[in-house]
Amino acid sequence: MAGENKWAIRPEETPVIRPRRLRSTAAMRRLVAETRLHPAELILPVFVREGISEPVPLAAMPGVVQHTRDTLKAAAVEAVEAGVGGLMIYGVPEVQDAAGSEGTNPDGILQQAIRDVIAEVGDEIVVMSDLCLDEYTDHGHCGVLAEDGSVDNDATLARYAEMAVVQADAGVHVVAPSGMMDGQVRVARRALDEHGHTDVAILAYTAKYASAFYGPFREAVGSSLKGDRKAYQQDPGNAREALRELELDVAEGADLVMVKPGMVYLDILSAVAEASPVPVSAYQVSGEYAMIEAAAANGWIDRDRAIMEALTALRRAGAEQILTYWAVEAARNLRQG
Ligand code: PBG
Repeated sequence: MAGENKWAIRPEETPVIRPRRLRSTAAMRRLVAETRLHPAELILPVFVREGISEPVPLAAMPGVVQHTRDTLKAAAVEAVEAGVGGLMIYGVPEVQDAAGSEGTNPDGILQQAIRDVIAEVGDEIVVMSDLCLDEYTDHGHCGVLAEDGSVDNDATLARYAEMAVVQADAGVHVVAPSGMMDGQVRVARRALDEHGHTDVAILAYTAKYASAFYGPFREAVGSSLKGDRKAYQQDPGNAREALRELELDVAEGADLVMVKPGMVYLDILSAVAEASPVPVSAYQVSGEYAMIEAAAANGWIDRDRAIMEALTALRRAGAEQILTYWAVEAARNLRQG
């Protein structure tokens, strides 16, 4: 029996159903793709810092800077030209105090930046602002503290109400409460409506976990935080409470909801997307950015493929909008096909 391959498959093993047919060429793969990304659903988070004359690069986020007011305007124009759908602005003030006073100063850095960006590109992109105190407090927490040092939920809500109104007065389209205080969406909605800002939308950070993946962001906003946020952000092991937070935020008037971080919470994203009556965003956070950039810088990973794969996974899991520091680059790549 010379020449006969005893390992050859048998006639009955010849596959009739061959899924590889649909993977055979680039054109075929494109035709059957279930998940497509579009620049319009990407949101670029940006940092604007008071009192600097040049942009300041961030060590743990190569390619990301703290902007001056002028370079922020240029970055906003660049995002519009790339077709990016939204901007999320974070202010980095010169002065921090216990109450986070700069957060409600009508001339605080975030409010000035909102006015600048709205004047520059306001009709062409959705302008959003972070509604949280951690960038402004000297203790670094997302709210004001009670005498015993804990974060005082209800006293913080009063600060958020005022912040929502000063941000809306500056012209922002969407405010994004990110502090995980109970009742924050309801209070922001009421304050906005009472001050004539019925058209300003709320993007709620709905399921926000106490995550190690926010590390590089804390440098980006000059956070003074010493402890942790476990008494207000969610425990990484808990899924059920994400759905409870969703229910509450929707009942309180959230127009859009968010899951954060992204990559290690795809199951949460999927469950929230399944249950939500409003659009669901995912935040690809600073640590996700840093990991891919660092591995790529070492030559350990194909940077461009890793970025698109990570974004596609968020979209596949159910994100309709994605906050990503790569928004402009990814939008350009998508446009070039
Ligand atoms: C709080 C806020 C944080 C991030 C966005 N908004 C930090 C935190 O909760 O500690 C993290 C974003 C990122 O890591 O990219 N204002």
